[in-house]
Amino acid sequence: MTIGEPKHAFPDFVSEILAQHTHEFAKYPPNAGAPELLDSIANWIKQRFTVDVDAATQVITLSGTREGLHNACIALCPETKNGKQANVLIPNPFYQVYAVAAATVGAKPVFVPAEASTGFLPDFSGLPADVLDQTAVVYICSPSNPQGAVASREYWAGLLQLAEKHDFRIFADECYSEIYRDEPPVGGLQVAAEVGADPERVLIFHSLSKRSNLPGLRSGFAAGGPKTIAALKQLRDFAGAPIPLPLQRVSTAVWADEVHVIANRTQYREKYDAADAVFAGLNGYQSPEAGFFLWLPVEDGEAAALSLWQETGVRVLPGAYLSRDVNGHNPGKGYIRAAMVAPKQEMTDGLNIIRKHLYQGN
Ligand SMILES: Cc1ncc(COP(=O)(O)O)c(C=O)c1O
Repeated sequence: MTIGEPKHAFPDFVSEILAQHTHEFAKYPPNAGAPELLDSIANWIKQRFTVDVDAATQVITLSGTREGLHNACIALCPETKNGKQANVLIPNPFYQVYAVAAATVGAKPVFVPAEASTGFLPDFSGLPADVLDQTAVVYICSPSNPQGAVASREYWAGLLQLAEKHDFRIFADECYSEIYRDEPPVGGLQVAAEVGADPERVLIFHSLSKRSNLPGLRSGFAAGGPKTIAALKQLRDFAGAPIPLPLQRVSTAVWADEVHVIANRTQYREKYDAADAVFAGLNGYQSPEAGFFLWLPVEDGEAAALSLWQETGVRVLPGAYLSRDVNGHNPGKGYIRAAMVAPKQEMTDGLNIIRKHLYQGN
């Protein structure tokens, strides 16, 4: 239960489309994406977020979101801002590539706690004005890994206002957007359109890895303002690794299909219910709003994970492996992360073992 590798089935039609297009391995693929794929993505964005984006200028395909989340800093984070080292704001805990991207471009990472007291999302608006003025890029993950928190419309609107006021860009990692319990999470570009914010302020990242159980396909996209996308395209033209054309054909069909996404979500909803039943009555248990992780409170995450592994064989991730110590405080230290990716019964067995082993008498 350590790694968030989806295990549900991917759509049947994937193999057939791949087989039909193997001859296209003989061609160099278009760097930014074949027109059919870009159209399919733009249609999906329209359907899912009711936002019109121009497929040719506002979308770029990625070999999974991870490389895009990293390379976006190279393309878009200036070396300095106001004559000084630029800040990159990062939620704490966080998906590790955000910090690697900041390190790559020589920016200063500023870790902003996302814990129970902040609704498990970072409170960027609480930072001092001079820190925000020095900021070039803000990473935000919604639905969040590891906590499963979802940014509301108000949260997005506030962040977009902050971006305009302090002149920074938002990199919105939305790769868990299709795995949710009740309402579809709102997206950054969606709220930007609703409130009339400049689309250049927010770059959204999406992936087929979680939505469609295709982590090995390495297929995702970024969408945002035309100038932002042009900068990403320029970098990708010279230094990127485009998605092979047969895999772009597969991706075109997968973005166009929602039937398998609904079936996938149904399975995760059953898993949320199973987890809620296992942890019913547990003090501090937070049922995730979205995504497929449980963020379980313990005294010391590393000690808990080690004892769980050694004594029961169940493996989870210590929360502190996803977070940083800032001024003696580490928001991940008192947690473990359990991925709900295994088949439901296997997952439920694992969770029962966790409850029994770590929460005796609770
Ligand atoms: C928060 C978050 N962002 C991005 C990714 C990268 O996913 P991919 O590169 O498969 O799209 C992951 C994968 O686990 C993730 O958890």
